[in-house]
Amino acid sequence: MIHLRSFRKHDLPRLYELDQSCFAADTAYSMADLRHFLSTPRSVAWVAEGEGGVVGFLILERVRIDGIMVGHLITIDVDGAARRLGVGGLLLGAAETHLRGEGITRLTLEVSEENPGALAFYRRFGFAATGHIPNYYAGRTTALVMEKEL
Ligand SMILES: CC(C)(COP(=O)(O)OP(=O)(O)OC[C@H]1O[C@@H](n2cnc3c(N)ncnc32)[C@H](O)[C@@H]1OP(=O)(O)O)[C@@H](O)C(=O)NCCC(=O)NCCS
Repeated sequence: MIHLRSFRKHDLPRLYELDQSCFAADTAYSMADLRHFLSTPRSVAWVAEGEGGVVGFLILERVRIDGIMVGHLITIDVDGAARRLGVGGLLLGAAETHLRGEGITRLTLEVSEENPGALAFYRRFGFAATGHIPNYYAGRTTALVMEKEL
């Protein structure tokens, strides 16, 4: 049985391990990056925990774009062995509920155009591509910008 809870500091090593396993070495976050994202007041993070420990997490930040507060998904990572079980959907749902509670009505993210699984996941949850950023990942892979009205 998977449950969600807020990130706690002692989760950091496991989150780093998960991120390293989810992304290529040149795109995964460093420990310093993760520590930064998880400690800034504009961020909020949840972990998904099963019997054997943490199997996924999501980091969200709130940013001001054109004078309006918007949610920006920094990352969502689910253990390869725990995918297609609804964990990602649970984490995304928590983030969306949190944003709505703050009166924020838009969620934006970047995703590699070479990540078909994540693209399918975001489309399944109602995100649409609104732009692209060339050379975004490791200085060469294009990112799609995807957005959803909450
Ligand atoms: C993207 C990711 C977070 C999805 O997590 P998940 O727990 O597997 O997602 P869910 O089980 O909630 O999937 C919900 C639905 O999304 C769609 N979906 C998810 N992964 C998919 C895939 N690989 N291919 C096609 N559709 C997919 C399906 O419609 C799925 O429903 P279904 O399993 O009933 O068909 C996970 O694959 C992951 O961590 N990938 C590596 C890290 C990553 O790329 N993160 C995104 C960075 S931008």
